[in-house]
Amino acid sequence: PISLLLAMKWIVCLLFGSIAAAAPAPNEASDPNSRLLNNILSYVEEEASPCDDFFKYACGKYAGNHVDDPFTEIVQMLDHKVNQKLVQLMEELQHSSLAPGFNESSVEAKVLRFYLNCRDAPLSTRSAEHYLRLVTPGEGLPWPHLTANSTAWPQEQFRWTETLARLQRYGLRNVLVDAMLVQNWENSREFLIELSMPSFVGESEKLKGFLETFATLLIMGVPRKSVLPLTRKMRRLESAVMRLTEADGDEDQFMSVSQLQRVTGIEWRRFIEIVLGHEVSPDFSVQVKNLRYFQALKRLMDKSDSELVANYIMTRFVMYLMEDTMDSSDPIECIKDARRGMNIAMSLLYKERFLEGPTLQRYIHEIQQLFDQLRLKFMQMVAQNRLGLSIAQRRMVTKKAKDISLNIGNLPRSLDHRSFVSRYYESLRSTPGDPDYDREHLKLLAFRFQKLWSQLDKPAPSGDEYFYMEDSDTAMSSSPYYMMRENIIIVPHGNLQEPLFAPDSHDVFKYSLLGFVLAHELMHSVDGDGIHFDNRGNRHEIGYGILYSPRFEAGLECLNRNETEFLNERLADIAGLHIAYSAFFESKPEGHMELANTGMSQEKIFFLNMAQFFCGDADSTSFVDHDSDKLRLQQLLSGFAPFKRAFSCTRDRRPPNDLCRLW
Ligand SMILES: *[C@@H]1O[C@H](CO)[C@@H](O)[C@H](O)[C@H]1NC(C)=O
Ligand SMILES: *[C@@H]1O[C@H](CO)[C@@H](O)[C@H](O)[C@H]1NC(C)=O
Ligand SMILES: *[C@@H]1O[C@H](CO)[C@@H](O)[C@H](O)[C@H]1NC(C)=O
Ligand SMILES: [Zn+2]
Repeated sequence: PISLLLAMKWIVCLLFGSIAAAAPAPNEASDPNSRLLNNILSYVEEEASPCDDFFKYACGKYAGNHVDDPFTEIVQMLDHKVNQKLVQLMEELQHSSLAPGFNESSVEAKVLRFYLNCRDAPLSTRSAEHYLRLVTPGEGLPWPHLTANSTAWPQEQFRWTETLARLQRYGLRNVLVDAMLVQNWENSREFLIELSMPSFVGESEKLKGFLETFATLLIMGVPRKSVLPLTRKMRRLESAVMRLTEADGDEDQFMSVSQLQRVTGIEWRRFIEIVLGHEVSPDFSVQVKNLRYFQALKRLMDKSDSELVANYIMTRFVMYLMEDTMDSSDPIECIKDARRGMNIAMSLLYKERFLEGPTLQRYIHEIQQLFDQLRLKFMQMVAQNRLGLSIAQRRMVTKKAKDISLNIGNLPRSLDHRSFVSRYYESLRSTPGDPDYDREHLKLLAFRFQKLWSQLDKPAPSGDEYFYMEDSDTAMSSSPYYMMRENIIIVPHGNLQEPLFAPDSHDVFKYSLLGFVLAHELMHSVDGDGIHFDNRGNRHEIGYGILYSPRFEAGLECLNRNETEFLNERLADIAGLHIAYSAFFESKPEGHMELANTGMSQEKIFFLNMAQFFCGDADSTSFVDHDSDKLRLQQLLSGFAPFKRAFSCTRDRRPPNDLCRLW
């Protein structure tokens, strides 16, 4: 396996080298409008019919244009550009770190250390077994197969609750129990601990298939002869737990840990003390979701073999760690790891190096203005009241829209970014010793967990002081996202790049791409989930009233005529397109300024540019939490009258799906 890994690494480097060395395209136009338009046209498949298959028409040449590229769609492409710039930055930092006076406790030094550790750590420090030697199930208690004399694992020392709590300090959750830090429904500024049964819905929420589980045990170093029976037993144990979760749910309730402990027989107080790293009083209150599940779990654990339970927890822990690493020493992959683990720092360094003052100010100004126009359009639509809402309901929605803020770069808007970030990472110190991938990975996970959970004792930051302590996947992505409890849209710095956005371009480009994306996020504030919360992110009765109002219900039903698991996404797509389109074509006459010699109407440009947000060459299994891009585009345009007009699609006599439009 070692030689294979090295060979692959070499190929990856080569590929990367050729990308980095590629010269800019020869005809790179200096005028942003021509540049964006040329880019749009380069994807268009002229042979396809825009009316029959707009996805093919708008995106037909995507795959051919990106044969060897390490991304499958536009947001990933933006991310790749970000990653390449950050590799360059690391090289610069490495250089300056050799000069005298380099500040070893600066944010730069911390990021560079993590990056270089990822680059230089020997393969022996990147193994599942190594993780397991660094994190044990109990104080002085090794994992069963790593016991010096494995027939003598002191099972009486094993406490499953203690092991779970120790691992939770590295961010593991949703194994046997799910302990989460959540915001109070009634007060988004207040955090509390919620205990519930685990979910088995997602791929990473349970053991993988038989062969993969088998392979995971092998790489953890479990002796070959035990692997097969253990795989079987672990799967059986997991099925038994899964069956317990199928019982009817209980009401949420607040309980003291001591009361919960009495009712379930589980040592919750000890669990919480280990997770928090300090003592709590017996009156410490937690929100409990599935009391009867916990009682049943206790019975199941009591009669299960300790070694089996330990092995099950261990396997889930290793799966979690493996999913949290890019598992490669390639420069781009190490940058991704650094973004996953130290995003706040990476965001600051990216901003300071690649978006110097005036550039960033211009972006912020342009994007804010664009968003203001979209919001205004939305408020006008609310005033037109196609949903037949009461005055109080409209007032709530309008207030909420008014209060949404944009956060560009996910740093607290009102604070000095450099000193905020320095303080944030203050307690992250370097570890003496040779490079060690697993050690540093675990250290960052523990650091992030501690940051997140330390919010329990204080009000959550909000408004201008807000930033999101991202999960790893969000942290390495440039997709904008809406924070429901904060009423904030986060726009990562990666969005401030072409082709997504060029501040000097014609408005048609702005509204059709980033405008559409922002309008989509804006609509999440009033989708089937977002509508529950008011402008401060607190649950509100008026929101329920809207959700169960006749036209809102009818609209959701209509949207779901072609059934989707992701109804809120469809709502956001369709309403978002409507807002972006009408904000540009109805409200901004000056936006219709001539676009020189394009030979194409602005309507056509609008739809092509919007549609190309959905271009990609991933296979259809790779879409997470959304319908496939092709289906999304189809749903967006089917029945959108302005689209049919723009491309003269007169054959299509389906009635417009206006009823399916919410808002
Ligand atoms: C080095 O960086 C730390 C953290 O940003 C800062 O507190 C300290 O003042 C810096 N030291 C010097 C000599 O600049
Ligand atoms: C391992 O432990 C078993 C059970 O305690 C014992 O019988 C055996 O002698 C031990 N073997 C070694 C090599 O210590
Ligand atoms: C939606 O469903 C209808 C009826 O099942 C079908 O005719 C139509 O093609 C579907 N539309 C899309 C865009 O999938
Ligand atoms: Zn969405």
